[in-house]
Amino acid sequence: MQVVSGEFVKNKRVLLRMDLDVPIQNGVIQEEYRLMAGLPTLELCLQNAASVVVCGHIGRPLGKEVKELSVAPIVNFFEDWYCDLELPQGRFHVLENLRFEAGEDSGDLNFAKELAAYGDVYVYEAFATHRSAASTTIVPTLIPSAAGLRFAKEVEVLLSLKNNPKKPLVAIIGGAKVEDKYPAVVALSKFCDAVMVGGLLAKQVKEQDLQISKNVLLGKIAENGIDIDQSTIEAFAGVIKHAKQVIWAGPVGKYEDPQGNKGNIGLAQAVIDSGAESIIGGGDSIAALEQFLDKFSFVSTGGGAMLKLLIDGTLPTIEALNR
Ligand code: 3PG
Repeated sequence: MQVVSGEFVKNKRVLLRMDLDVPIQNGVIQEEYRLMAGLPTLELCLQNAASVVVCGHIGRPLGKEVKELSVAPIVNFFEDWYCDLELPQGRFHVLENLRFEAGEDSGDLNFAKELAAYGDVYVYEAFATHRSAASTTIVPTLIPSAAGLRFAKEVEVLLSLKNNPKKPLVAIIGGAKVEDKYPAVVALSKFCDAVMVGGLLAKQVKEQDLQISKNVLLGKIAENGIDIDQSTIEAFAGVIKHAKQVIWAGPVGKYEDPQGNKGNIGLAQAVIDSGAESIIGGGDSIAALEQFLDKFSFVSTGGGAMLKLLIDGTLPTIEALNR
């Protein structure tokens, strides 16, 4: 996989695919971690390229224009960031949410060609965006492509964990994207010593009587219905205490409500106290654990992407960049 350099983008028109999928409420960005993670690559491109067109998605608008999912707040974020750089007019542009076009999700070749026309070269700096789509897996087959600096770092750190796990290795899984997480729990239980499940997922596994193996521990839901209960926090902390490595994807409670964030805070403290190497990932986990981020060994921008890479050892986006 080629990694971006000043030489690669020198005097070229660059199409830069970034992770723009950050939580936005009433036009205000709630959490900037993913955007910040992509800035070194954006800066490298702006310093060396003739022009930079940034593209990305927000949410799941399914091919329709949804006002709340417009990139407008992201454009403001970039404008605030680069106001000191004194860019000449027309050298930097941000495309509207790619998922407003049905051709993005469906991987339409003509839409990919339209996107590719913005660049002489393509740089992929969207680790969290792991699904096959026009901008993620088709464009890199059309023009010379390289991985962004952060993307390359994510792949390096996570593959090193995959290839040299430190035992006991335990996982904490929660979060809202329940449909994606159950298969991940099943896969993780095959190479982790314990998988601790919280949030809506724990509830759903119980209600639907889904099959789980013995090393999967299901959290009990607190009376308020939006967190794991105290006995679960203590039981999970007891397991974490002996871990050498912890993978954490997805909050175990509704972190936006202080009553739903006790489990996240209790487990974060247990992870930090254990001294284990800790890898946490995903937009919601980052938002829930904001105050602890500098205490973890590595914070991945991707939740689903992180789990998929740890389980499969590759991603469609890595394969596309390697072609
Ligand atoms: C994410 O937030 O995990 C990424 O933006 C990917 O989103 P998706 O699950 O809607 O593809």
